[in-house]
Amino acid sequence: MPHRPAVPLSRRALLRAGGAAVAATALGGTGLKAPDAGALKPGLAGPEPITSTGDLVEVELVAKQRMQRILPEPAEPSPLITYADHFPGPIIRMRKGQRLRATLVNELDEHTSVHWHGIRLPNLEDGVPYLTQPPTRPGERHVYEFTPPDAGSFFFHPHCNTVELLGRGLAGVLIVEEPDAPKFDADLVCLVKDWQLDKTGRFGAFTTDRGASRAGTFGSVSTVNGAIEPVIEVPTNGDIRARLYNIDSTRVVDLRVEGAEAWIIAVDGNPLPPRPLDGWPMGPAMRIDVLFRAPAKAGQTLRLTNVYSAEPRPLATFRAVGPARPNKRFKPRALPASAIPEPDLKDAPIVPMAFSATAVAQSFAPDVLAGLPYADALCLSAKTFWAINQQSWPEGGHEHLPPPLVTLEKGRSYIFELANLTPHLHPIHIHGYTFRVLSSDGRKVVPHHADTVLLEPKERLRVAIKADNPGDWMFHCHIIEHQDTGMMGYIRVA
Ligand code: C2O
Ligand code: CU
Repeated sequence: MPHRPAVPLSRRALLRAGGAAVAATALGGTGLKAPDAGALKPGLAGPEPITSTGDLVEVELVAKQRMQRILPEPAEPSPLITYADHFPGPIIRMRKGQRLRATLVNELDEHTSVHWHGIRLPNLEDGVPYLTQPPTRPGERHVYEFTPPDAGSFFFHPHCNTVELLGRGLAGVLIVEEPDAPKFDADLVCLVKDWQLDKTGRFGAFTTDRGASRAGTFGSVSTVNGAIEPVIEVPTNGDIRARLYNIDSTRVVDLRVEGAEAWIIAVDGNPLPPRPLDGWPMGPAMRIDVLFRAPAKAGQTLRLTNVYSAEPRPLATFRAVGPARPNKRFKPRALPASAIPEPDLKDAPIVPMAFSATAVAQSFAPDVLAGLPYADALCLSAKTFWAINQQSWPEGGHEHLPPPLVTLEKGRSYIFELANLTPHLHPIHIHGYTFRVLSSDGRKVVPHHADTVLLEPKERLRVAIKADNPGDWMFHCHIIEHQDTGMMGYIRVA
């Protein structure tokens, strides 16, 4: 019943509990009052998480333009597009087992939808215009309803005109908490994102042919939670869980918490045996949950940096505040394992997926695009530079959805051999499934689960799924300009 008529939700019906427990650094809620609010840069004090104690968590996502300052004065506030009054927002926190009912209210002047990245949900809730739902037109609503099967750190975003909408901030966070997780002294969300802004605060071009046909068009300003090098407060001597997200459209990052021993405890929300944080490059859409110990004395700091560049780049500072937590020696603690269905590797056919550049950049005349009912001009660019198995999304002149890249038999297991035939990095994402990452021909692979895997230039990476979730599922590069210019397709599980 996913396409029931949307019931208008009154503001009162929305549950926004937990306010009292959440302090000024609300993205994580350390429970501490900021002793020196002046140190909090604008943009850091995010929204309260939306939570509920009942079986149902209801939220309203009003997609529209909102002015928000990213650059300091004298620049102007920038015309962001967001789902909540403030970027980053909303942060939805729910417990595993709770049901989510999210109503998209489209106050944009273009159609849109909400894709729930990383969630193994029913196909009709997946939020891909034309493939899984009709696009939600300006002024319309669309209700999504599902119970996330896995705990983890997820997010959501649109699936057409993503280069502009995500570029302007249209993304929200969905956290599904483990009922039996170890206790941490703080649970933070850090969203790494660049913005394509000129000095005055206006947005520049989100895509260029030069970028789209190579590594992508990089933004000009780096932020965490929409703030330039924010100071994020953490409880002194506390054990900190930080959910580090790369929600940029283009940039690959490799994050460090400098000055602390830090451990990766989950990848894309999926627990793995804790391993030191020292080399886990994340392409767009990839996440890690990290555990570290805050400084032992109030006022001391640690730095979050990106070392995926010649010089490490500072992104944020964690500053210890409040009385020291009586924590003893620091030991990483594992999260409870998730229940992703195990693929049966012995019985699994190998499905080749080759990621390449198109031999000749194709261009579509506007009237060809107009004739594609599934793919209007918002959902793809008029040019293609990239392909999967030599198919570019879309193939010019098709009157209907292109055929799936492959059709899989429901219930069987499959190994995808992801072959990167290009000299660029590609974060490859599957909808509705979580890959088990098996092996690479070019590096040693840490066994883990992920919904997005970073393919190195010329690498062949093997990943497996058990095809238990029927439907048509997008399969694409998450460098948004690559996705928009051909490196996208879908698989069918039937
Ligand atoms: Cu994060 Cu197809 O998307
Ligand atoms: Cu790519």
